[in-house]
Amino acid sequence: MRTYGAIGIDLGTESIKAVALEAGADGSVKVVGAGAALSEGLRKGVIVNIDAAAKSLSGAFEALKKSTNAGNGNVYAGIGGVGLSFQKSKGLVAVSRADGEVSKEDLKRAVAASENNLVRIQNREILHSIPISYKIDNETITHDPVGLSGLKLEAETLFITVFAQHFKSILKTFDEAGVSLEDAISLPMAVAEAILSKREKEFGVMVLDIGFSTTSLCIFEENYPYSLEVFPIGSGHITNDIAVGFQIPIEEAEKLKINYGTVEKNSEAHISKKSAKNSADDIVYGHYSRKKLTDIIEDRLSDIFELTEKHLKKVGREGLLPGGVVIAGGGSNLPGIADYTREHLKLPARLAEINNLGGLHDKVKNPAWAGAVGIALVALEKHIGGGTSARGSKETIMRWFRAFLP
Ligand SMILES: Nc1ncnc2c1ncn2[C@@H]1O[C@H](COP(=O)(O)OP(=O)(O)OP(=O)(O)O)[C@@H](O)[C@H]1O
Ligand SMILES: [Mg+2]
Repeated sequence: MRTYGAIGIDLGTESIKAVALEAGADGSVKVVGAGAALSEGLRKGVIVNIDAAAKSLSGAFEALKKSTNAGNGNVYAGIGGVGLSFQKSKGLVAVSRADGEVSKEDLKRAVAASENNLVRIQNREILHSIPISYKIDNETITHDPVGLSGLKLEAETLFITVFAQHFKSILKTFDEAGVSLEDAISLPMAVAEAILSKREKEFGVMVLDIGFSTTSLCIFEENYPYSLEVFPIGSGHITNDIAVGFQIPIEEAEKLKINYGTVEKNSEAHISKKSAKNSADDIVYGHYSRKKLTDIIEDRLSDIFELTEKHLKKVGREGLLPGGVVIAGGGSNLPGIADYTREHLKLPARLAEINNLGGLHDKVKNPAWAGAVGIALVALEKHIGGGTSARGSKETIMRWFRAFLP
């Protein structure tokens, strides 16, 4: 049976995760390897030291190679971090054929015209251009306009952009690590690809990826990305607050958070399960107060949720996403986070699950892996969908239309 492999790499600020997936001819996808390394040289998801990041990337790649029995596949990177931006723009062109029939070429020109009308594009690289709607002579067309007739065609297009400098640093980091990069895609959309159902994307849903130093949100509606934002706060800030609050080293604070941290309403059960030796209700893990720990965690989490709520308001979707919120990233491992989300955003909420994968799927079941898995999944889809390699001219790299079309 012919198989095709793809490797997805998520350059996270705490860890770099690499996963190798393989698609069988029957459409099944299995995990053939996964490896991670602690990350150096990144800040808020952006590379600030190429040498250090390249070393970490090599480490993750080595770990991947050790874990895989196939591991040959094209390598794809996710681009996330602060500075990732989302813009919509319209472009109007005259239909070119004399008989007024709209052609594929016209669609391309309309999308190109939207790109020309983009504002504040200086110093930015376009990662994705996704046409979301068309109008012919001012009438909205809900399906493919090719073959319809008119004088003027207008496209509304979504653009996901990144600072050119960040993009260049990623390419340099891969070069320096000796890993040949096939293409790159926006990380929040890759996360969505790994954990959302088609129905959720249709109804309206938000992914909240709580990482180490960033929290990314990506909203989908009617199958298209509707909004995307990256906040510079993550679960690492919670650890820092615990370190300061209890005056303990970061490592100790991290252990305290992972082993005893919770935002569960009634956390009795959690505490007693995790710290059977501590009988006093208010005390966990030596002399640390459980209440104080929870307060510190909730304080910082509420910052993240305030930013999220503000954004939902800004884009007119406060309390208005029937598909609710799906929470991913390492920070989503905090017990009680789904209820907390439900309560604070007044929306349905669930934890991300990475399903339907065979092979070594246990290695990537933690929602911190959703990014790496999603990147590889998009790569597989693109290949199976017949997309040609985007590597080559700098003009064509990163321009994917196929993968995110319905
Ligand atoms: N069981 C747990 N409970 C609470 N937090 C956890 C748990 N496991 C991991 N985390 C937190 O998840 C964070 C790392 O998440 P993740 O791997 O998604 O980040 P990253 O992708 O490296 O960073 P970023 O996305 O900000 O660049 C750390 O702050 C870690 O403390
Ligand atoms: Mg991350």
